[in-house]
Amino acid sequence: MIVLSVCNHKGGTGKTTSVIHIASALGLSGRRVLVLDLDPQGFLSRTLDVDEPPPEESVLALFDPNLDPRRIQARELSGFDLIPSTSRLTKFMRSLNKPTDVLWVRETIEALKPNYDAIMFDTAAAVTVYSLNALVASQHVVIPVLPEYQGVVGAEQTFQTTSLVRDRLNPNLQTRSMLFTQVDARKRIHQTYQQYIRRKYGNYAMESVVRTSTSLAEAHDNGTTVFDHDPTTRGARDYANATDELLRRIEKGFDVPGPPETSGDATDVPEPSELKVSS
Ligand SMILES: Nc1ncnc2c1ncn2[C@@H]1O[C@H](COP(=O)(O)OP(=O)(O)OP(=O)(O)O)[C@@H](O)[C@H]1O
Ligand SMILES: [Mg+2]
Repeated sequence: MIVLSVCNHKGGTGKTTSVIHIASALGLSGRRVLVLDLDPQGFLSRTLDVDEPPPEESVLALFDPNLDPRRIQARELSGFDLIPSTSRLTKFMRSLNKPTDVLWVRETIEALKPNYDAIMFDTAAAVTVYSLNALVASQHVVIPVLPEYQGVVGAEQTFQTTSLVRDRLNPNLQTRSMLFTQVDARKRIHQTYQQYIRRKYGNYAMESVVRTSTSLAEAHDNGTTVFDHDPTTRGARDYANATDELLRRIEKGFDVPGPPETSGDATDVPEPSELKVSS
């Protein structure tokens, strides 16, 4: 059983695209996969042309004690099931203000686990009670990193959040994987920031990268996945490779304290702002 969050506090780093395509790749390998869209803006649900469901069939049922998560009818999509988001999450967030409100999802997904081999969370680009719930419930985290200044700062903040969550709330957080997305080999800045992250975070950075791919953007526009759209394209190959590597990392469970250069604490690397070069 794999429980995995995709998280980066910075927007537009490829979280939703990564959730959709890692979930699809896992589904293609025969696993039963459930995706939970915990972004109140519901871009994942909208990207896949899934209408906003009534609240009791949305992820709200995981947080509202008046709703029963066992009664949610997940939508069957190509390769995975989805419990969509609802715009009501935003308003409901105001009632989730107790420290224990970060534990809802960990408890409520227990009822869903028997039907699936993997459960994945898409999260919003912010530290909210919903993204914290995802991290507290997960054994694994993927941090998609856009190798540009803001994307890298967001990824580093997210990495710190995952350390806090692991130390204080979720000792079961076993692996963290930084996945470079939207990589353009022609941009020097992308190479510079990839080197920076690899040097500072060592094995936390995945070897596979997801390059910029018009097929991913087109699939996005057509409400489908790149595996359905055209499985021979660069986007499909990159996400298939990234998913294979992710499964190997999950099997190894390598997130153990290492030397500074692999623990995110290296001191001899410059700050991201010092790396700014023209692209
Ligand atoms: N590898 C890629 N190649 C080309 N376009 C991409 C790639 N990855 C993502 N995109 C595009 O970049 C945009 C942002 O991606 P996505 O929605 O996955 O990011 P996000 O981190 O979920 O954003 P948000 O923080 O707003 O939820 C989308 O239009 C998507 O189609
Ligand atoms: Mg998103």
